[in-house]
Amino acid sequence: MSFINENFLELQESYLFSTIAKKVAKYTEENPDKKVIKLGIGDVTRPIPKACIEAMHKAADEMGTLEGFKGYGPEQGYDFLRKAIVNHDYKLRGIDIAEDEIFISDGAKCDTGNIVDIFAKENVVAITDPVYPVYLDTNVMSGRSGKFNSKEGIYENIVYLPVTSENDFKPELPTQKVDMIYLCFPNNPTGTVLSKEELQKWVDYAKKNKSIILYDSAYEAFITQDDVPHSIYEIEGAKDVAIEFRSFSKTAGFTGLRCGYVVIPKSVKGYTKDGKEVGYNKLWNRRTCTKFNGASYIVQKAAEAVYSEEGQKQIKENINYYMENARIIREGLEEANIKYYGGINAPYVWLKVPDGKTSWEFFDILLQDMNVVGTPGSGFGPHGEGYFRLTAFGTRENTIEAMERIKRKGC
Ligand code: MLT
Repeated sequence: MSFINENFLELQESYLFSTIAKKVAKYTEENPDKKVIKLGIGDVTRPIPKACIEAMHKAADEMGTLEGFKGYGPEQGYDFLRKAIVNHDYKLRGIDIAEDEIFISDGAKCDTGNIVDIFAKENVVAITDPVYPVYLDTNVMSGRSGKFNSKEGIYENIVYLPVTSENDFKPELPTQKVDMIYLCFPNNPTGTVLSKEELQKWVDYAKKNKSIILYDSAYEAFITQDDVPHSIYEIEGAKDVAIEFRSFSKTAGFTGLRCGYVVIPKSVKGYTKDGKEVGYNKLWNRRTCTKFNGASYIVQKAAEAVYSEEGQKQIKENINYYMENARIIREGLEEANIKYYGGINAPYVWLKVPDGKTSWEFFDILLQDMNVVGTPGSGFGPHGEGYFRLTAFGTRENTIEAMERIKRKGC
């Protein structure tokens, strides 16, 4: 007889975006004549930049030659890509990161999910609420939570840090000691950001309590304001306490191609039960060598091309396109008298559901009456209740049409 990992039984019925996809599929099947516009999951719609496509063609041809063929690559990623990341994403911002502190992967979802492997089960985890569900679910799967309290919609043993309009979407420091802190800025789902001073408080907290910050900056390329940090390593002391996740998905349209990376400075340390210091870089390297055979060469070549002059120009065009969509959404909501947040340094607009409706009630109204799909705030956590997320990753045409429908019908 085999026994299951019972932690999985503690998970909620289904992953948020699968639930939405199922609801939408059912509606479309029953209403084939309706044109449903999807502004739910943050999936991109602009084609992959030409520079990346050309790099992939070239890499594919190379693979077909005796001299250019590549088998297994380095598990941690090819040097050419690690070097490009160090130079562009960090050195240009005055941040000193070494190549062997970068690990290339098939995306930030896997990295933010898999990172739990290198942490003890006993660690106390803090997450913002609402939150990208992967951080919470993977900690539940690995046994770091207690039971789910269905009345309150929270897990025992997880420290929830509310982010709502009441605190201007800035999480307050936990009143109890926590060991692992998940922060995502620009934030998914609220689209809001923290200033350097605000982030400094978290780094200081982590240093004081010997905690680790798991910093997801997958949306940094969408920052438009100067004083907003792109990397946690812009903050003094962060190289001792923070692991950073980055992704090419939203930055360069790689949601279907898959490539991301995690940065683990060698100075980031954890402890054994008897107090011995161990570097997380070493543990992640060991885990990567055992469980991963590296992202594909062709995809890493495409990622490298993101940093070429042409690549940079092309990704900026796409990012501007999405941020223009965000502007259209924000202005549409204003005209419809709906309060909103975010959408200035992030491709997400977080709106306050009007008339005291719940997030899922609003989801149904939007789907059935306006044929527009968004993401219910409560799906990201109990403090997301009464909020709703729209993504700016749609096509221009669909974004305009969705906002016209919302303005026309009113909510
Ligand atoms: C989202 O919609 O929150 C994201 O697209 C999900 C993801 O990046 O996995």
